[in-house]
Amino acid sequence: MPTSDEPTSDEPTSAPDTDQAAPWWRTAVVYQIYPRSFADSDGDGIGDLPGITSRVPYLSSLGVDAVWLCPFYPSALADGGYDVDDYRDVDPRLGTLADFDDLVTALHAADIKILVDVVPNHTSDRHAWFVEALASPAGSAARNRYIFRDGLGPDQDRPPNDWESLFGGSAWEPVGDGQYYLHMFAAEQPDLNWHDDSVRADFRATLRFWADRGVDGFRVDVAHGLIKDLNEPYRPWSEISEVIRPDGSHPLWDREDLPEVYREWRAVFDEYVPPRIAVAEASVHPTRRSRYAASDGLGMAFNFEMQDADWLPSDYRRVIDSGLGDLSRGETPTWLLGCHDSPRVATRYGLARNPGRNSQQTARDWLLTDGRLPELDRALGERRARAAVLILLALPGSTYVFQGEELGLHEVGDLPSAALQDPMAQRSGGKEKGRDGCRVPLPWTPDGPSYGFGPGPANLPQPAWFADYSVASESERADSTLSLYRAALALRRVLATGDEFGWLDSGWLDSGDDVLAFRRPGGWVSVTNFGGQPVGLPDGQLLLASGALPDGRLPSDTTAWFRVP
Ligand code: GLC
Repeated sequence: MPTSDEPTSDEPTSAPDTDQAAPWWRTAVVYQIYPRSFADSDGDGIGDLPGITSRVPYLSSLGVDAVWLCPFYPSALADGGYDVDDYRDVDPRLGTLADFDDLVTALHAADIKILVDVVPNHTSDRHAWFVEALASPAGSAARNRYIFRDGLGPDQDRPPNDWESLFGGSAWEPVGDGQYYLHMFAAEQPDLNWHDDSVRADFRATLRFWADRGVDGFRVDVAHGLIKDLNEPYRPWSEISEVIRPDGSHPLWDREDLPEVYREWRAVFDEYVPPRIAVAEASVHPTRRSRYAASDGLGMAFNFEMQDADWLPSDYRRVIDSGLGDLSRGETPTWLLGCHDSPRVATRYGLARNPGRNSQQTARDWLLTDGRLPELDRALGERRARAAVLILLALPGSTYVFQGEELGLHEVGDLPSAALQDPMAQRSGGKEKGRDGCRVPLPWTPDGPSYGFGPGPANLPQPAWFADYSVASESERADSTLSLYRAALALRRVLATGDEFGWLDSGWLDSGDDVLAFRRPGGWVSVTNFGGQPVGLPDGQLLLASGALPDGRLPSDTTAWFRVP
């Protein structure tokens, strides 16, 4: 029986059988980079591509298989770069195409793949197509690339219907000649019309443009939104504001004819050797994820259920079973605890001591109080987040890590209103604080003008507590979250082979329902104690634990990996 007061890591004595045939992406750990908040090389406060290239050694030492770069294209940053002016260029503040090529070369030399974000649901209002549409009359081919409709009333001064943008306010914006255009996000993000063949052809050209430059794959933004039913009569917003449905009946989201678009994309991916890969951001009912993850479509779709789960064994078991359902259909489960759109996981899990209250909504409510109420228990949140990531990394499939999660970063809950950049904060009229609190530039060193992010101040204010969470500080501490991630990713490379998975029932450790344990190939076992009391450990070799194991027992909110006979 192992005993330890410190998190422990031991190399397994022998690697289990490996499945050489599995393609890299089926077990990849993908690190999500939000470029303007990662590393700033030139001191303008905005992270850039040379900044990322300079940190490739860090990504190597972390042990990730791939990075996903959020948008770095020319943009007014009305929505953090998801308002794209030109899909086939680099924002001059972030670098040049030559800088992009250098980044790809550096990543590939380090054996790290790269995925780029493609944003097909909408362009920015500065995109050449939209500028042309505004200069063209109603009914023109240029307007047909977007979704223009006549306003209502004798003066056409009322929007075509009462639909609301997901960022708040009307989904329709007038253009001054009696017509309105649809934007499901910010007004600076006009929705494209995917019934127009020129739109479809141009996006295939964009995919080829980046694939030719060596990218290994794509993350597809709002993948469930492209095809819309704008037939009248329009259904009232009160009927369709609930967007996630199990049956494809929503006029705006997850339409039945959407997979056809992705079959066209798959044909493009398959022009390359090896074929390019893709992962869908699709907020759809779990039973409909397959429509995006199908092998003749995008191939993978994020499972967002873990991001919404409470820190409860029942929630985790349900979500894992749901992902295993994907696996049984031959798909690749795609796990994540957070991303650039959700409150930081360490904060979510530290907001309420009582189980059942760690929802994203709890965290959003907390943000509205400027991070004061309810009280945040930082240590508790970090402990649970560390236990959670060991669960994810032990599951079959691919795992996404949002930059800063490996440092255990919390949400910055007290950003001053004047500093907020997210259109969600502006358009919701104070109902939402928005997503800036997880996008604050990373701390690399315990001091300096922006904690090592760059030579000058960062584009969002960083809190003083960032010093303790910097890469340099955490690299020195064996018990830091960064050290845990490094150890876990190194072990996973050896252990994560094949798809085999089996639950170990509560009788296995004589532990009750608060313990979640499962077995993977080669006797690899992951055990998590969600309960309030320490439990005994199994017989076997301790490989790694998310926290100390006093008296040889597994305390609450802790995961440990073992090799058992
Ligand atoms: C996706 C992105 C989010 C963005 C939205 C509109 O959900 O992840 O950041 O605001 O699409 O593009």
